[in-house]
This record gives sequence, C-alpha cells and structure tokens, in this order.
Amino acid sequence: MSRIVFGVTGGIAAYKSLDVVRCFKKQHQNIDIICILTEDATKFVQPLSFSTLSGNDVLTDLFSPRKTPVHIELAKSDLIIVAPATYNFIGKIANGIADDLLSCVIAASKCPVLFVPSMNSAMWENPILVENIKKLKKYGYYFLEPDTGALATLDVGKGRFPCTDFIVEEALCLLNTLKKLSSKKVLITAGKTESYLDPVRCITNNSSGTMGYELASAAKFQGADVTLISGPTAITPPNVEVIKIKTVEELKNKTLKYASHADILIMAAAVVDYVPLSYSANKIKSSSNSISIKLQATPDILKLVKTKNKELFTVGFALESDKHLENAKIKLKSKLLDLIIVNDVSSISALDTQLTLINKNMKVKKLPLLSKKEAAGKVLNWIIEEYISSSKTV
Ligand SMILES: Cc1cc2nc3c(=O)[nH]c(=O)nc-3n(C[C@H](O)[C@H](O)[C@H](O)COP(=O)(O)O)c2cc1C
Repeated sequence: MSRIVFGVTGGIAAYKSLDVVRCFKKQHQNIDIICILTEDATKFVQPLSFSTLSGNDVLTDLFSPRKTPVHIELAKSDLIIVAPATYNFIGKIANGIADDLLSCVIAASKCPVLFVPSMNSAMWENPILVENIKKLKKYGYYFLEPDTGALATLDVGKGRFPCTDFIVEEALCLLNTLKKLSSKKVLITAGKTESYLDPVRCITNNSSGTMGYELASAAKFQGADVTLISGPTAITPPNVEVIKIKTVEELKNKTLKYASHADILIMAAAVVDYVPLSYSANKIKSSSNSISIKLQATPDILKLVKTKNKELFTVGFALESDKHLENAKIKLKSKLLDLIIVNDVSSISALDTQLTLINKNMKVKKLPLLSKKEAAGKVLNWIIEEYISSSKTV
C-alpha cells in the first residue's frame, strides 16, 4: 500500500482537488491518501469533504500533541502532491519557510513532491514566481503546467487547474518510478482446479480466486510484470496476463513453464489433493445405490517447481482447519518454501480473511481480520521485504 500526502492550499481551485482525491480513492484502492489543508485552504473548502472522500482524518494542525511529531511521521510517505499550489505556498517552499503542517512535511521529506500550481495568469507570469519555480525544479521538485482557458475571474489566460485524470496519471507515473517490483516477473496462481469423473461431474473446491486476483493486482501496482494462472472463477481478472486452466495437470504444466522465467512465485490456487484415477467418457449412470471412485494423489506442484528452479522465491498458502501453525510449518519445510501464508478453511469463499505469515526462519506475523484486498496489500509488502532480504536485489 502506497501513501500519498495530498496538500491543498488556499486557491480558488481547491474545490476541484476534491475530485482528484475521489478519483484516487475510487480507482486506486492500494493508495492511502492523507489530506493536509492549509489554514487558508479551509476558507475555500471544508476538511469534512476531504475526510469523507479520502477515508482518513484531514490534518490542518502542526502542533497537535503526539509521540512522534505528525510532520515527521507524514514525511515518510511515498509521494506528496500539492494541488492546488498557490503563488504564496510555492514562494514559501522556495525560500525555506516551514511555518505550517504542509510546509513542514515537505521540508522534512525525501520523497518526490508534485506541485500543481493554479492562479490568475498575472500571478502565474510574475517573475518572482517564475524564479521560485525554477529554483524548486533545480532542487528536484516536480511541477505540472496549468491549463490555459477561462479563469475564475472569467479572464482568459494561463493558470487553470488541470483536469483530474491528467493529475492522477502524472502522480501515478511519479509513484511508478518508486515501484518496488519494477522489472520483476511475478507468477501467481489463483482459484480452484476441476478434475472430471465424467463429462459433467468433477472434484473441485469452493475457492473464489479473490486472494490470488488481489495479489496479482497489488503486484502489478508495485510495477511487477505479472502472469496470473487462473482456475475457473466468476470474478474479473486485473489487467495482467491471464492463463486459464481447469485441471491440476494443466496447472502443473503452465506453472512449470512460466516459473522458469519468474523471480517470485505465489501459489494461491486451491489445488485439489486427489483426482479420479479414471475418466468415463459417458455420463456415469445413476442405476446403482452406491459406486466407488478410486482417487489418486495430485503431484506436489510447489515442490516440483522449487526443485527445478532453486533460485525462485516461492510463496505458498496453507488452508487449515486445525493445528494451523504446526501444519503450515511442516508444509513450509517439506515444500522448500521461502514463505507460507496460513488461513482457516472458513476463509475459502469469504469476503474477509485472517492470515498468518511464516518465513523460512519460522518468524510468525499475524494479521488482523481484513478484507482480501487489504490483506493482499499487506501480504505483498511482506513478500517484498523477505524477497529483498533473501539477498536477491529488487
Ligand atoms: C477569492 C480568492 C481567491 C484566490 N485564489 C487564488 C488562487 O487561485 N491561486 C493563488 O495562488 N492564490 C489565490 N488567492 C490568494 C491566496 O488565498 C492567499 O495568497 C493565501 O494566503 C494562500 O494561503 P496558503 O498558500 O497558505 O494556502 C485567492 C484569494 C482569494 C481571496
């Protein structure tokens, strides 16, 4: 989950920045948005609107008592956007002034800062502002050019707040350069497998595929080149390469094929452990009271893949009904995994899940009950941390 500090200063376009926050929140759920309003911004817009749209408290006060000063905490974000950025605020930052919460966050931060200036065209052309922007660009601050058109006073000129989509796109590009998995290939398996007894009956399970799909979209967001091998599901896949499979055999073959090019494998598919030994080309008749079906164990795909790709960072899932940690630790070792994620059988088609993560050194991290989207974000962060510390550079 990335965190953006979204600063709003006292310009007439402050109301337009509400739409930018709304757009981030609606389209990019993996981004946490913290809004900071300057005192003068609150004369144009209400903090309440920003807190509702961002889903977080809005901050305005530098001096709220806390263990860690709030500006130092927020300085550790992934991106700071100031939209709109007033003539006054740009001048303050260019001259090293830090006398309110937003300017202090910027002063204390090493993350990229994107200014979206908006003002009357005469202010925009003022040589003092031109100098200030030049100076800030020299120090690595980013600026979006304002649009030309009708201004608040109905004069026509340069200084209009750019459109929402443009701001969001530019901000995401900036965030992309910080992606932790850029240029990495991540292979994810998701959903259930089906093994047919006859043309209409199969042995399968209730997996919805949600967790694997959420992990795929979280990995894509972190800049990874994602391939998703998916069993049958009713959900829409994220915008990644999707390979559809049905049977365990297909899953095994595709996973082996794609794993040889991958840096990380996350095996979230719920593979059936036993498949029918034989297949009846004709539908099995319901003439007798009982029939016997002989089942055979499915191959251990994870172990097979890991044996052939020793360098591959491999993450498995354990779905348990009892002795969760004990069973997961055994699985972690026997399948040669780098990480295992344990969940209870009750979570298989549920909306929320409570996960426990165990790494190779048997370090255990328990997550609270979360939506599968939130859980996927946290799991991916831990995978990235462990991947980095396993001496493979990201
Ligand atoms: C009605 C009105 C509209 C304003 N619009 C803008 C504007 O669009 N851009 C700007 O740079 N300043 C604008 N100002 C001036 C700023 O509000 C003023 O410089 C303020 O001190 C900025 O505070 P801040 O930068 O701390 O948020 C406007 C002022 C008023 C009264």
